[in-house]
Amino acid sequence: MSLSTSPVFSAYPLEDYRNHKQAIDDSLARALEHGHYILGNEVAAFEKEFATYTQTKHCIGVANGTDAIEVILRALDIGPNCKVALPSHTAVASASAIARAGATPVFVDIDLESRTICPHALESLLSSPLGVNVKAVLAVHIYGHSCDLASLQAVADKHGVILLEDCAQAHGATFQSKPVGSIGRAAAFSFYPTKNLGAIGDGGGITTNDDELANRMNIIRQYGWKDRYISACEGVNSRLDELQAAILRVKLQSLSRSILQRRKLATLYNELLNGSSIVMPPTCKSGCEHAYHLYVVRCSKRDALMKHLLGHGVPAALHYPAAIHQQPGYYHITKQSPALPNTDALVKEILTLPLQPYLSEEAIRFTCAVIREFEI
Ligand SMILES: Cc1ncc(COP(=O)(O)O)c(C=O)c1O
Repeated sequence: MSLSTSPVFSAYPLEDYRNHKQAIDDSLARALEHGHYILGNEVAAFEKEFATYTQTKHCIGVANGTDAIEVILRALDIGPNCKVALPSHTAVASASAIARAGATPVFVDIDLESRTICPHALESLLSSPLGVNVKAVLAVHIYGHSCDLASLQAVADKHGVILLEDCAQAHGATFQSKPVGSIGRAAAFSFYPTKNLGAIGDGGGITTNDDELANRMNIIRQYGWKDRYISACEGVNSRLDELQAAILRVKLQSLSRSILQRRKLATLYNELLNGSSIVMPPTCKSGCEHAYHLYVVRCSKRDALMKHLLGHGVPAALHYPAAIHQQPGYYHITKQSPALPNTDALVKEILTLPLQPYLSEEAIRFTCAVIREFEI
């Protein structure tokens, strides 16, 4: 394969819009003509359809994934003087939502194989003085790999802590054959445009099987209104937009297919990178089905390899260049968290290779050939 000219790395999510253009245009026209632009038919229908997809009783549409976490915590009365445990190896939004709810994030180290929160590390935290006042654990299914929800649930139950899920990167992932988002007390989803299920703008959702909690979250997302203009509790304004819901309904129909395509492309990467002396492909733990939101390898010469890939036109990226406890805005929290040796080790070596459902096999073969050339 010639490495002098790179193949096309198709633009995502633009390609996704183009692929669904007619259906999206029709859906938008229907929503516009309906004339009910806030929490109308489209949001209600999407909530039902997404609850069915995640095999949950309720979905509550909110403005984005960060708000989804905040609304869950508010509904559970987890705020000032409460702590929420989470990994530091996640999008900063996971922690900022906790802080927005008034609670304190406490970081827990990760398991290096799944890159998700480690149940043993959680147990250590909850058994230590730092674990006092931890009311919930936010299990982030990073990159599309489910956390070990069974072990986390056992630890959480032992310490009387609530298990919540951050599914922003994991639409379509499963744990022990159950969709993520259906196992914790409640789960937050983001529909940011690049997510596995993406709107054309911001969007978010919460899933739960708890009727009472669903009712509270429904109220909180709209000013705390139980009845119009009468607030039953303090609330926020965080509604899923009607037009975004109309778009999400279209894209939801092909979500299962697009996850299968992500898995197929990830398998091709795994085959082509097998035996590499320089990169370690991601693994999928038994009992989990990966949703491959991101395909993230480990490489001890990460920075040099990234430069090499970018130099050949391969859009490699970092998710994320720093863990949350390494970011200045969150230094103050580091003091209240235990040491995070696995997180510190992983963050220096992660490298995201291009992966999205419209990527050609040629682009993946090219990427792997560029990596193999670097090895020599
Ligand atoms: C793991 C994780 N949690 C939460 C969020 C927040 O979602 P949003 O950007 O929709 O607020 C994101 C988005 O990047 C995320 O990746």
